[in-house]
Amino acid sequence: MTTPPVCDYEGSDYQTSFWDEGGRAYEDKAEEIALKRLLPKSGKLLLEIGAGAGRNTPRYKGYERIVLLDYSRTQLQQAQERLGKNERYIYVAADAYKLPFVDGLFDSATMIRTLHHMKDAPAVLRQVRRILQPSAKFILEYANKLNLKAILRYFLKKQDWSPFTPEQVEFVDLNFDFHPKTIRTWLKESKFNLENQLTVSHFRIAIAKRLFPANFLAKLDGFAQLTGNWWQLTPSVFTLSTAIGESAIASEGAFFQCPQCNHAPLEETPEMLICPNCGAKYAIRNGIYDFREPLA
Ligand SMILES: C[S@@+](CC[C@H](N)C(=O)[O-])C[C@H]1O[C@@H](n2cnc3c(N)ncnc32)[C@H](O)[C@@H]1O
Repeated sequence: MTTPPVCDYEGSDYQTSFWDEGGRAYEDKAEEIALKRLLPKSGKLLLEIGAGAGRNTPRYKGYERIVLLDYSRTQLQQAQERLGKNERYIYVAADAYKLPFVDGLFDSATMIRTLHHMKDAPAVLRQVRRILQPSAKFILEYANKLNLKAILRYFLKKQDWSPFTPEQVEFVDLNFDFHPKTIRTWLKESKFNLENQLTVSHFRIAIAKRLFPANFLAKLDGFAQLTGNWWQLTPSVFTLSTAIGESAIASEGAFFQCPQCNHAPLEETPEMLICPNCGAKYAIRNGIYDFREPLA
């Protein structure tokens, strides 16, 4: 199965340069408020897709276990340093287009600041739905092309693409903004029932961030987020959906499946997982299950 190219964060200092030293305390706090609103109070097993360095992971307080999935091994290593090699966390290096889990495994999933790297977003949404149990919750954040800044720039002729049309825009290689209506259509087609939308980062404007403390702006944002079901004009939108329709529930003990041939279960040794069907072997290194490519 050929899948679209991946925006590779291997070796990236994203967490430090973008968040810790990038002047984004306001955005981080605003996202924390949105997540708190949308997250169920408790759950058993949550999949965080595109977990990066685990910036959001400590916010999933009510969950018994959390699987951090990211294509980048180095992002997962940073997450491990932040969170520790605790039994509560399972670290998985894999491509979101080929999730290495059995159908109907998770009761929740989140995907934050990650869909914007997906050239074929509907394919990823179908994968997410596959690994979720019936009635599971899915929190999806997406980058919104219909934001006020893009609308203004379009009318001032400083931007050639229209924020009003349904197709995604690739503003930098493998970085996409989406139209809210298109996301809603894709969620529906993938058998998700959209329940809530929160618009986030209303005040992502340099002058506002210079003039006001991050906590104050985030608090204001928290109120403004509540208009998210009426209109979506912010650069970031958080959605909460429920998995609907017929689907499998993973049997007791089932967990990983082979991303090459979809066989489960896999045999586990301390160093690797082995697929008894196609013979593919996947390394387990320093507590990270690595499904990116089979061992030679
Ligand atoms: C912008 S970062 C966001 C990280 C984290 N969610 C956060 O908000 O701090 C995007 C992450 O998505 C991961 N990613 C991109 N494409 C991916 C893919 N096809 N499969 C799995 N992870 C992917 C990158 O490695 C990166 O860590």
